[in-house]
Amino acid sequence: MPAWLKDAVFYEIYPQSYCDTNSDGIGDLQGIIEKLDYIHDLGFNALWLNPCFDSPFKDAGYDVRDYKKIAPRYGTNADAVRLFEEAHRRGMHVLFDLVAGHTSEEHAWFRESSKAEKNPLSGRYIWSDFCFQGMDGYRIIAGEAERSATYMINFFKCQPALNYGFLHKTEPWQTATDDPDAVATVEALKDVIRFWLDLGLDGFRVDMADSLVKGDDEKKSGTSAVWRNVRAMLDAEYPEAAFVSEWSCPEQALPAGFHMDFILNNSDQAFGTLVRDYQNHTDRIVQSGNGFIGNGKPSPAYEDHSYFKKDAGGTVTKFTAQYAPMLQRTKKDGYISLISGNHDTVRLRYSLSYDELKLFYAFLFTMPGVPFLYYGDEIGMRYLNLPTKEGGYFRTGSRTPMQWNHGANYGFSDADSSAIYLPQDPSADAPTVEDQAKDPDSLLNTVKALIALRHAHSDLQADADFSSVFASDENPLFVYRRGDLIAAVNPSGSSRSTVLPSVYRRNMKALYTIGTGSYSNGRVTLGPQSFALFCPDD
Ligand code: NOJ
Repeated sequence: MPAWLKDAVFYEIYPQSYCDTNSDGIGDLQGIIEKLDYIHDLGFNALWLNPCFDSPFKDAGYDVRDYKKIAPRYGTNADAVRLFEEAHRRGMHVLFDLVAGHTSEEHAWFRESSKAEKNPLSGRYIWSDFCFQGMDGYRIIAGEAERSATYMINFFKCQPALNYGFLHKTEPWQTATDDPDAVATVEALKDVIRFWLDLGLDGFRVDMADSLVKGDDEKKSGTSAVWRNVRAMLDAEYPEAAFVSEWSCPEQALPAGFHMDFILNNSDQAFGTLVRDYQNHTDRIVQSGNGFIGNGKPSPAYEDHSYFKKDAGGTVTKFTAQYAPMLQRTKKDGYISLISGNHDTVRLRYSLSYDELKLFYAFLFTMPGVPFLYYGDEIGMRYLNLPTKEGGYFRTGSRTPMQWNHGANYGFSDADSSAIYLPQDPSADAPTVEDQAKDPDSLLNTVKALIALRHAHSDLQADADFSSVFASDENPLFVYRRGDLIAAVNPSGSSRSTVLPSVYRRNMKALYTIGTGSYSNGRVTLGPQSFALFCPDD
């Protein structure tokens, strides 16, 4: 386990939208380099960049055409190396995004694999043995290749699935996981990993990490075996490299070899009860046409009862019931990563106010594991209702260019505003970094204070003990212990209090508060919409 993860706080950057330094309307690596001081000053010490490799961008770069080449619109491989060096100089680490399950249909491997004549890459993807042959339970493309076969896709049409083999073979055209073709795919993946780690990269976020092996791999034993193989290579050759999975099942992903796994928006993940926008479904969030659900009014079917929404009647108990045992079961294997949102989710600001966001971030940055914040969430950028771009669909509204200041294009780019990657927030009160930096009570400065608190107290970091001390369906207070510290949050609009069990009957003093909080002889009282972190008063 790389030791640096203990105190890592990640910032996710969608490279298209962060900072444009060559005036083409799209962000670039040089822009990220120029903003490293800003990111570092906020307290983030690690970055995750969405895919920045050569791509036709039919899925925003998750359709990789060349894993070893930075997309020209972002710069060059030399710029990537400078980014690693500049980040390292500031004590920061950088993760790229590894799209392991599929490539672009324009990748050279796929072009070769599509040829009628058998060649060494014929088995790099999953092909049937006849042009009219379907694949039970999987999505296929027919009629596109020279080869008389259909092929499996992993996501969009542009993303043919790489062949890691089938756990249970039922058809003659399927290969086993130990077949030379499947083994060669794993070796090719390792080659990509080594290429970037050798250039100074610090690790990867792995896209759809659970999607590799096909053929009834429900329990993921086949896919897990691939990752354990990769992890053995990392432990031997790059022990400081960090891997985080998009798997959303730490109980599978961490034993499979990942150092961290995101808990995302799956409907069976109780994290989604804390902030509504983890319900990442087009039909639930945005309708096409002229507005949000119900033309601007929240749909009654999706009324927000999330915990951090003031007085919405949400409770924290579903979350604690799922999270606390999951943490116990997985902590020997790695970390759970909670997120503010990502490039696939509707921004939190869609449903939460600044005050609600402050409390959610207080929670996020005082929980175990390794937290991630999505660019722009530090100032509460809005979700915009926009037409799709680069395969974004409803996700497009969470991918708009960063709002730095009130200059042209909010300081994102010097290009003509008609040329920028996506339109920006047209509201008179659109949040900017410049405005919030001046206001000590802003969301931005709250994020900064919370991350500083985390760095200052090892009890708040990834490994330190966690237990839920008070969580109830009747009282909105949530009190939890981190090492010797006690955190408490009250998202409701009225003052709340509780008396903790006898082992907690002592006095503690507040180290940090949002709103008001006190802890006296085991009685914890929090003012309306408040958070407090208490330490022993000795
Ligand atoms: C998950 C990524 O986060 C998403 O943006 C992408 O569209 C799919 N995987 C396909 O790669």
